[in-house]
Amino acid sequence: MTDLLDRLPRALEWHDGDLYLLDQTRLPLEEVVERQDSVADVFEAIRVLKVRGAPAIGVAAAYGLCVALGPLREGPVDAMRRRLPEVAAYLNAARPTAVNLSWALRRMEQRAARSTTATTAAELYAALVDEAEAIHREDQALCLGIGEAGAALIAAGAGVLTHCNAGALATSGIGTATAPMYLAHRAGVPFRVYADETRPLLQGARLTSWELGRAGVDVTLIADTMTASMMAEGRIDLVITGTDRVAANGDVANKIGTLGVAILARHFGIPFYVACPSSTIDLDCPTGADIPIEERASDEVTSFGARRTAPDDVKVRNPAFDVTPNELVTGLITERGIVSAPYGENLARLFGPDAPRRSGASR
Ligand code: MRU
Repeated sequence: MTDLLDRLPRALEWHDGDLYLLDQTRLPLEEVVERQDSVADVFEAIRVLKVRGAPAIGVAAAYGLCVALGPLREGPVDAMRRRLPEVAAYLNAARPTAVNLSWALRRMEQRAARSTTATTAAELYAALVDEAEAIHREDQALCLGIGEAGAALIAAGAGVLTHCNAGALATSGIGTATAPMYLAHRAGVPFRVYADETRPLLQGARLTSWELGRAGVDVTLIADTMTASMMAEGRIDLVITGTDRVAANGDVANKIGTLGVAILARHFGIPFYVACPSSTIDLDCPTGADIPIEERASDEVTSFGARRTAPDDVKVRNPAFDVTPNELVTGLITERGIVSAPYGENLARLFGPDAPRRSGASR
């Protein structure tokens, strides 16, 4: 995978005890990488979407804990152990919908609890860095697994629609929704991707069309309002999106607008797949109705970039995600293969407590 990764942007990097994030709010105009000097920096980066996408915020939060605890390395180990849950709770509050955030932070806490032989703060810190690096490496492997499971869905000549950005920028690897695209492209399959803009924050325009284009994938940008007519014209053969959380019954939370795309796909008889690493499956969440949906600031809707586009006193709603019911999902592309209905049964069998264990993973 290194050849692919080398051509893709990196959302985050960890070097010599420091976390670096590519500021995605400035893309595609500027590529600015910022060192995160405090846990408040990391919290803010997640909140304002400098780092975004479910897997990437999980990895960033795991390293964010290390950023917070690093300065306590010379002190007593108990002080670090006491501080850890406070920092984890703080970071976990940055955004509510993507389950990867709480999943990664829980793994970090579990690692600390297991590290009973760490008698100094320096040893405990080393164990936590090791866990964050494991989460980071595993995320890359999950992306690759999704790519391998999903690449065959992309036939020569196909038109593939994606929504928002579930690409390299949303993960630490080759993306989730984009992973089948990158592998099909590397295998020489000719196909075209339609990236919708994804109002209000334009992740499709600013991020997906940028990263796919940079990697040499044939990508066409469309406004969200064009999706139905592109489908009606027969240009779309397949939809692949990412997800922020999959409930136990297979309902899928993803970027606002995904539900509309899924309904359109059903109307036009187009398969609708959701790329989903196991880190995004929440078997403790029974249905989509139980997924917390983030409501973001109104100015994201009342302006287009820096320009105000609505009256000052207009009432606004700005839910950042919606829930697509499982019956609209043709399949979940996971690192363990494509999961289809009945989702409750199949997700529990593949990812529940009795499922075969994955290396290093603890749910
Ligand atoms: O608000 P964002 O940009 O974090 O939303 C991102 C998405 O909705 C992605 O589709 C999802 O996180 C999957 S990323 C592999």
